[in-house]
Amino acid sequence: MIHIPKAEYTRRRKALMAQMEPNSIAILPAAAVAIRNRDVEHVYRQDSDFQYLSGFPEPEAVIVLMPGRQHGEYVLFCRERNAERELWDGLRAGTEGAIRDFGADDAFPITDIDDILPGLIEGRDRVYSAMGSNAEFDRHVMEWINVIRSKAHLGAQPPNEFVALDHLLHDMRLYKSAAEVKVMREAARISCAAHVRAMQASRAGLHEFSLEAELDYEFRKGGAKMPAYGSIVAAGRNSCILHYQQNDAVLKDGDLVLIDAGCEIDCYASDITRTWPVNGKFSPEQKAIYEIVLASQEAAFKQIAPNKHWNQAHEATVQVITAGLVKLGLLQGDVDELIASEAYRAFYMHRAGHWLGMDVHDVGEYKVGGEWRVLEVGMALTVEPGIYISPDNQTVAKKWRGIGVRIEDDVVVTKQGCEILTGGVPKTVAEIEALMAAAR
Ligand code: GLY
Ligand code: MN
Ligand code: MN
Repeated sequence: MIHIPKAEYTRRRKALMAQMEPNSIAILPAAAVAIRNRDVEHVYRQDSDFQYLSGFPEPEAVIVLMPGRQHGEYVLFCRERNAERELWDGLRAGTEGAIRDFGADDAFPITDIDDILPGLIEGRDRVYSAMGSNAEFDRHVMEWINVIRSKAHLGAQPPNEFVALDHLLHDMRLYKSAAEVKVMREAARISCAAHVRAMQASRAGLHEFSLEAELDYEFRKGGAKMPAYGSIVAAGRNSCILHYQQNDAVLKDGDLVLIDAGCEIDCYASDITRTWPVNGKFSPEQKAIYEIVLASQEAAFKQIAPNKHWNQAHEATVQVITAGLVKLGLLQGDVDELIASEAYRAFYMHRAGHWLGMDVHDVGEYKVGGEWRVLEVGMALTVEPGIYISPDNQTVAKKWRGIGVRIEDDVVVTKQGCEILTGGVPKTVAEIEALMAAAR
């Protein structure tokens, strides 16, 4: 299995600590177990920031980073080994495993955190944490601080500065290393196979969930524990619902089906959308819309390179889509004016993409100092233009209504431009029709 090597976690912790102020401490909690119903849990997924710094896959754990601490800079609080619990729920690293297998300098049982952590915080000037994103953990941090404050008369020194960790950590996460790109390529490869399989299986009379099953099969077979987000399998008019999740309608002859789905490998997401005709052959109207979306995506790829700014790709898609809609008579007027008035938003109401990484909508600022961010090598993003003609849109001829097309690929910025990670699934009308014909 392709995964992030252990040494990379060490490198990340060191890089973060090098950016922290002297005499500071960073504290991060693992994701909580989420209850699905009664005593059934959701599949556990580690918090992305926690995973990024530790690779430690268990709940009930806390990372503490203390740059410059003589007795070890990286302390991990985690669950202790417990033969009874491990018999039921699976193996735990325990404090020994945290040191031996996960590079912690020191490890303590999570049940001792209230006794030990105030002592580690004491004397440090500044605390970094993900303030505001986890109310319960924020409260714990304040409780630990208050333990120190209550001993001030004995000379204990509580920290005075509380800083959001996100700014440093999320900027690091925005730049993908060679190892991260390798994992993302693998997630993309498996997701491409999943889309190809769903395309080949597409038949009128099946349900949307039948195609979702084809996706899940390839995800699992490729070693993915789960999709990176709820798969969207949207046939017919459902393709005009951007985050459709019901996935239970019947696939009808003559309709399109839009699938937006990607798996997650070692906590790295892929995010692919393809749209194809249920019966394997595009109608003239479907083809006309499809070709505009595809041309807009190709125009966007040309705007993804170092020194281009974040919005240039989006602007390219808006230009091509607006001009294309005018050409088909779906919008009337001057292209520049329609862009200025955002008339295209009746058909194209989302942005051309987002950062991609451990979170499908990944962290990282899109603007810096009020200006669009300039692209740099290693940034990963999606390119996903679309046209959605509402089934209720009375301003267009009936033949157009209910057509929804999105095409989405994942790219990483390179020195020369960008690498498309998700090129392994057909995209042109001819390629899609050929693949589907061969599967009949
Ligand atoms: N799958 C969600 C998105 O494409 O942003
Ligand atoms: Mn998507
Ligand atoms: Mn996306």
